[in-house]
Amino acid sequence: MNFKLLQLVFLTSIFMSFYSKFAHANSDEGTDEDIPSIEVVGNKFFYKNNGTQFYMKGIAYQQDTANSSDSSFIDPLADADACKRDLPYLLELSTNVLRVYAVNTSVDHHECLDLFASHGIYIIADLSEPSTSINRDSPSWDLELYKRYTDVVDALNNYTNVLGFFAGNEVTNNATNSDSAAFVKAAVRDVKAYIKDQGYRDIPVGYSTNDDSDTRVAIADYFACGDDDVKADFYGINMYEWCGNSTFEKSGYEARTEEFKNLSIPLFFSEYGCNEVKPREFTDVGTIYSDKMTDVWSGGIVYMYFQEDNDYGLVKVSGDSVKTLDDFNYLSKELANISPTSAKSSDVSATTISCPSQAASWKASTDLPPTPEESVCECLSDSLSCVVSDDVAKKEYGDLYGSVCGEIDCSGIQANASKGEYGTYSYCDDKTKLSFLLNEYYQQNGKKESACSFDGSASLNSGASTASSCSSVLSAASNSQSVSGSSGSGSSGSSGSGSSSSGGSSSSSSSSSSGSSSGHIVRPSVDSAQLFFMTTALTFFFGGLGFVML
Ligand SMILES: *[C@@H]1O[C@H](CO)[C@@H](O)[C@H](O)[C@H]1NC(C)=O
Ligand SMILES: *[C@@H]1O[C@H](CO)[C@@H](O)[C@H](O)[C@H]1NC(C)=O
Ligand SMILES: *[C@@H]1O[C@H](CO)[C@@H](O)[C@H](O)[C@H]1NC(C)=O
Ligand SMILES: *[C@@H]1O[C@H](CO)[C@@H](O)[C@H](O)[C@H]1NC(C)=O
Ligand SMILES: *[C@@H]1O[C@H](CO)[C@@H](O)[C@H](O)[C@H]1NC(C)=O
Ligand SMILES: *[C@@H]1O[C@H](CO)[C@@H](O)[C@H](O)[C@H]1NC(C)=O
Ligand SMILES: *[C@@H]1O[C@H](CO)[C@@H](O)[C@H](O)[C@H]1NC(C)=O
Ligand SMILES: *[C@@H]1O[C@H](CO)[C@@H](O)[C@H](O)[C@H]1NC(C)=O
Repeated sequence: MNFKLLQLVFLTSIFMSFYSKFAHANSDEGTDEDIPSIEVVGNKFFYKNNGTQFYMKGIAYQQDTANSSDSSFIDPLADADACKRDLPYLLELSTNVLRVYAVNTSVDHHECLDLFASHGIYIIADLSEPSTSINRDSPSWDLELYKRYTDVVDALNNYTNVLGFFAGNEVTNNATNSDSAAFVKAAVRDVKAYIKDQGYRDIPVGYSTNDDSDTRVAIADYFACGDDDVKADFYGINMYEWCGNSTFEKSGYEARTEEFKNLSIPLFFSEYGCNEVKPREFTDVGTIYSDKMTDVWSGGIVYMYFQEDNDYGLVKVSGDSVKTLDDFNYLSKELANISPTSAKSSDVSATTISCPSQAASWKASTDLPPTPEESVCECLSDSLSCVVSDDVAKKEYGDLYGSVCGEIDCSGIQANASKGEYGTYSYCDDKTKLSFLLNEYYQQNGKKESACSFDGSASLNSGASTASSCSSVLSAASNSQSVSGSSGSGSSGSSGSGSSSSGGSSSSSSSSSSGSSSGHIVRPSVDSAQLFFMTTALTFFFGGLGFVML
């Protein structure tokens, strides 16, 4: 009872300090001048104003986003009343970072962002959303994803308390889909370039991975390696190895710390909080922020604020009311007791790490997919004489794709990240890609009207033309080369943290040590109507299914 009363007093005082601060910073423009930005130096985060090290004391803050029944989600930064409701609880948990998984770029985030800024709370935001994310089974880095990612950057860049962006969450999750990491790394590269080109603040862009024993070292090195303009700026691991009363040694934290000790970028738990033993006493917190780990790790983000069916919540929210759960009390006590040592940014030196060699468990090439360019797809679309008919439903695209690819070379729209080969038009939208193929077939079959039918699914486009501005765009596209993820990274003085890259000189990978290997863009050949073997056609057919799923 007394505890409740104390809590009330505590909360009231927090509210008072919040209102006075908020009233103060109210002549707003979307920026908060009081909060310093966070920068990356070497493998650590620092407050930019004074070079003091920044450790994440984070909470995952989003209600159930994976809603299979429709594509909507609840944007955790859109509802100012909800942010105000939750702020005192977040402060009681010593929170300085909120991870949000999906934001709605057509709503205003101003009030929540400024509220959190005035209490020293930073945001780390995923760029994807449930219905627009890189699909590990048929990965792409295409126009639609590029638009979504850059829209989020546009919506959030103005806030100084945006700490960083995740270009993907658990996309590659085991050795069978490691190739998908190439598409995510292309996203990292392009979002970094976009931030620079727009003249935005230098906001770090990173990745959040699962914890898979076969791939974990290679994938960390893969994201951390390469030139500054392609490498990830930070790296998060969703970590559930410490359950109940474990220890540094028994939990796996010691082994992970050893594995990643040479990682050249900041590393943290982008989720943690195993719930196999309940209540969660968070006995790992003291260790995470102790000298055993702080040279390698920058803290972590507890999964998660809201109690839901998955039973990871710290509080139960219903309407305006928030009820703290046992886990909340344990966590807040643990976090109140930490005092990690602080490095100074001036004492930290940058290091580099080699890209992983390709191996059975690591297929992703360091030759990355090209940057999606809308003008190329528009010019292409305008130029096609034979196109998919408007009345063909998207779900029928897969069959059409399968049948036309049995007849002609489809490499112009395909991507293979194991080989590092990407068709010139592989990032265009599905309709343009399919029309491109139908048009190729039509061209290769004497431009006969019957060659543009596909049982009525295709039709002639009498308005096809290539504007003069387009001929240069299209020829530039077919001559361009993608940026390589490996350039300049393989120097000595750095060493891969994993078994796969040590000793590198005889590595089988063409990319791990070359200074400038560039991506191989596959140019669609117009005049060679190659017939494909059955296996190839089958691959294309399944590729076609992936294509339609996008
Ligand atoms: C960003 O901040 C600038 C300067 O404060 C302001 O002019 C601009 O409107 C803001 N943009 C957004 C998208 O909030
Ligand atoms: C540096 O700035 C941060 C943010 O304002 C502050 O929390 C921290 O205490 C400062 N460090 C020192 C050594 O003053
Ligand atoms: C985003 O917000 C707009 C405007 O409120 C709404 O129409 C749309 O459904 C929201 N999108 C999602 C994915 O929730
Ligand atoms: C998910 O969808 C169901 C059914 O449409 C809806 O009742 C629920 O509110 C949705 N949840 C979220 C988080 O959007
Ligand atoms: C790899 O992950 C995929 C997607 O989650 C899953 O379907 C598959 O079973 C996994 N394979 C292995 C070998 O773990
Ligand atoms: C963990 O250890 C603490 C201190 O020894 C003890 O109080 C607690 O009950 C233990 N928790 C579990 C789940 O075993
Ligand atoms: C990429 O090429 C390799 C080697 O030819 C092949 O084994 C693999 O199936 C291809 N991947 C895709 C996604 O087509
Ligand atoms: C880290 O780098 C040191 C010095 O280059 C090297 O001796 C050590 O083997 C590396 N550790 C790992 C786990 O790669």
